[in-house]
Amino acid sequence: MCGIVGYIGEREPVNVLVSGLRKLEYRGYDSSGVAVVNAGHVQVVRAEGKLTALEEKLKNQKLSGTIGIGHTRWATHGIPSERNAHPHTVDGVCLVHNGIIENYIQLKAELSALGATFSSDTDSEVVAHLLAQELKKTPDIFKAIQKIIPRLEGAYAILAMWEKEPQRLVAFKNGPPLILGVGNGECVVGSDVQALLSYTDKVIYLDDGEVACIEKDKYVITDSLGKELNKAIVTVHWTSQAAEKHGFKHFMLKEIYEQPLAVSSVLKKYTDLKTYQVEFSSMFLSPAQNTVSRITEQDLKNVERIFIVACGTSYYSAMYAEYLIEKLAKIPVEVDFASEFRYRDPVIPPKSLVMVISQSGETADTLAVLRMAKNMGAPVLSLTNTLGSTIDREADLHLFMEAGVEIGVASTKAFISTLTVINLFSLYLARTRKYLSIDEEKQFVQNLLALPSHMESVLAHDKFFAEAAETFKNYKGFLYLGRGINYPIAMEGALKLKELAYKHAEGYAAGEMKHGPLALIDDKMMVIVINPQDNHYEKTLSNLQEAKARGGIIVSIGTGDDASLKSVSEHYLSIPKSDWMASGILSVIPVQLLAYHLADVLGYDVDQPRNLAKSVTVE
Ligand code: AGP
Repeated sequence: MCGIVGYIGEREPVNVLVSGLRKLEYRGYDSSGVAVVNAGHVQVVRAEGKLTALEEKLKNQKLSGTIGIGHTRWATHGIPSERNAHPHTVDGVCLVHNGIIENYIQLKAELSALGATFSSDTDSEVVAHLLAQELKKTPDIFKAIQKIIPRLEGAYAILAMWEKEPQRLVAFKNGPPLILGVGNGECVVGSDVQALLSYTDKVIYLDDGEVACIEKDKYVITDSLGKELNKAIVTVHWTSQAAEKHGFKHFMLKEIYEQPLAVSSVLKKYTDLKTYQVEFSSMFLSPAQNTVSRITEQDLKNVERIFIVACGTSYYSAMYAEYLIEKLAKIPVEVDFASEFRYRDPVIPPKSLVMVISQSGETADTLAVLRMAKNMGAPVLSLTNTLGSTIDREADLHLFMEAGVEIGVASTKAFISTLTVINLFSLYLARTRKYLSIDEEKQFVQNLLALPSHMESVLAHDKFFAEAAETFKNYKGFLYLGRGINYPIAMEGALKLKELAYKHAEGYAAGEMKHGPLALIDDKMMVIVINPQDNHYEKTLSNLQEAKARGGIIVSIGTGDDASLKSVSEHYLSIPKSDWMASGILSVIPVQLLAYHLADVLGYDVDQPRNLAKSVTVE
């Protein structure tokens, strides 16, 4: 988490820094700061709260120079406050940090014994002191940094400058991303390509252990042993995507409305619209690195087991994938949270495939699983929304969500896109294993092609939730129920409500409710039942009756005009008739809209919910 940006060149750095931080605010937004070197002195402005607070301060404090660094923070050590905001400055050394310095207590004690006094509660300030100490002996920031790196334990991406060398920025990393943008007589550094694209499309992805010494028209990159490297410059074929709400009240609402488009993009990428067959040859190519995978289609056919590992919303899409892949392709699938999988000494037998799902492509635990699986010899397939992210670059096989930039911290369109990719990928696996005839495949694909227009009609529930939210906000708890593929969707519905409306919500397998959660139900509990007409319909209807008999207020999501479901529900939301595979995706929209409108009516910040960040690069 935390967003880093740096600039060296002829433009006014503060403008580049603030506009870069605006694009990185999704990474953390509890405080921010910028620093510029001017006439041999570091000038720093920091503010608690969102970036707008910093912008307000900058109206009265003009910063000018030719080099600068900026940061937007998601607190790990020390409360969100101005004193803990980055950049941290010690004796003219100034730096910004993303990650966690795990041995900071030990380093702090050592530095304190040497007379250092600390002005923040962060782990990051320790690095500034360490560097300032080293610069007394080694008055060259590039060399000094190479000397202190062996002392740092943990995960970090750091950008540093020194007022005595105002022509150089130094970037180094171990874990979180850091990307160098090479412009014409200027360089920009950032945690995400989006922060660079207004200035250049030529980028270098720094790898762990590397150190970059950057001047406005040249740079040197070394490995961890100090050996100079000749790193490839990658041309990024995307444009800087403007963070515009286009008339919507929030980015999240705009992104919910963009879902039909996101699904269309997935269908376009992974189907052949002439034959109505799925098409996954691109998975064997890495567009970020211009390489062909060592894993072949035959290797994939030989896979006997799939492990799918992810966090948060991506974990629920992994659960969904388990149902799809086992049902269609008959391959055993095991799903786990990345934070659990990586520490439970998992057994990954030969002929296994490890699939990691991550919207950001940077989630620390998911990345750790990818690396662990590769070390154990298993091929890794990534499914990300961020081309060129660390997970995308390190995976052997590459799938993309095609959702476009998602600004709202709570994931919406990336989730729906992920489910769509999983649907198509399951068809691909089923076809290659001969569990699916060409005609069946065509039928599934044709049904999925109708999804975007069906989704448009489900978006009409927006009006219902906008009005109902006033009443719904008074309920003490929310229980989301579903069976089969609708169980992970119930889990995702509950997560959305927790994240956005700060309400207690549980997602449960409908058949499990009577084994405990039934005790929660009374007339202050809203029960959201996802029950389209699939082969679980009757059983879920019985579970709904059990909740209703205990006084639960039922909101049901069903297919078409379902009179039976309607008659036992306080509120009924209809999704269009479609096959079971497409209906799962349609059911997601009402639960997103419920969470959105409840949060909005309660006056919460929908796009930037408290305590969260979109890219979780710490454990
Ligand atoms: C989604 O709404 C959440 N903000 C969060 O659970 C997220 O899905 C999780 O942190 C995983 O992120 P990733 O997909 O980028 O790995």
